[in-house]
Amino acid sequence: MVSAVVLAGGFGTRLRPLTLSTPKPLVRIAGIPMIDRVLASLPSFVDEAFIAAGYRAQDIRSHFNGKGINGLAVNVIAEEKPLGTAGALWSLRNRLEGDFIVLNGDVINSLPVNEMFTFHRKCGGIATISLWEVDNPENFGIVRLGQDMQITEFKEKPKREDAFSRLINAGTYVMNDRVFDYMDSHSSSMEKEVFPSISGRGLYGFRFSGYWVDCGSLDSYLTAQEILVSGEAGVVRNGARVEGCVISRPVGIERGAVVRGSRIGPNTYIEEKCAVSEGCVVKRSTLMRGAVIGKGCEITNSIIGPGTEVTDGTSSDNQILVNQSQ
Ligand code: GTP
Repeated sequence: MVSAVVLAGGFGTRLRPLTLSTPKPLVRIAGIPMIDRVLASLPSFVDEAFIAAGYRAQDIRSHFNGKGINGLAVNVIAEEKPLGTAGALWSLRNRLEGDFIVLNGDVINSLPVNEMFTFHRKCGGIATISLWEVDNPENFGIVRLGQDMQITEFKEKPKREDAFSRLINAGTYVMNDRVFDYMDSHSSSMEKEVFPSISGRGLYGFRFSGYWVDCGSLDSYLTAQEILVSGEAGVVRNGARVEGCVISRPVGIERGAVVRGSRIGPNTYIEEKCAVSEGCVVKRSTLMRGAVIGKGCEITNSIIGPGTEVTDGTSSDNQILVNQSQ
């Protein structure tokens, strides 16, 4: 039996006001809720997933509605108050045995979780962290990696001058239940408390190539969207009414959307039941289900939330606009 835990209890403050009415794991990216994308990345040998929820846990519970996904049993566990990434795991310690997988609920990446699991088993360590290389590691957890792929040092959000590496924690872990020997009921942060304490004692790193984006902010959300619409989400579906438009791909438009006389894309995703009137420019943006864009609007680097009406001639750059009544 192999289990996975998805950390999904954060407040998602950087995506407000969208996350005031929708918890971040349920925010759709290129038409699919982030958490569904994360669950779909799990290898088929994973039997059950625990969703460690907190903020708006009831919405997450209703989303799964007691059902699994593709043969995977899904259990939503609600924290009464935020326990932090380590506290969330600690609360599940009696249900996790042997090796298990832990994932952040807001990461879109090409990590081969399967291969990482095999690597972890071969090393026999306490935990393995997925690693991604970035130019500016200050906002992440960095690691020092030895020849044998052991992590000898882990530092969360280093100052620029203290950044000894550009390899960052990419937010997916394979762990053995021995990790609980390094935690207790007071543990709150994996990144600040647990990883530094097991560095050099059986903590391994797994590097991968391809893409990695943490979708927690508006800019990173739109960057992740670009990757997805450049792939299979970049389709103008049958049943989308697109008339007299200039389309600059990659673009995804769902069935039931009506788009007229406008310049759309690149990197734009328009969900079902949206309407875009004549003379608009919509670029590097997302229009969520039922958004209505009036004539002559310019929407760039923005998310227009579900059911939001944007009046004629509005310009929105770098904003998240939502329907105030929701
Ligand atoms: P911001 O408020 O915008 O920083 O977003 P966030 O609250 O989601 O925080 P962050 O992006 O750092 O969290 C990374 C992952 O851990 C996300 O998938 C969160 O849902 C999850 N997470 C953060 N804090 C907690 C917590 O206290 N409990 C649980 N279960 N998950 C958490």
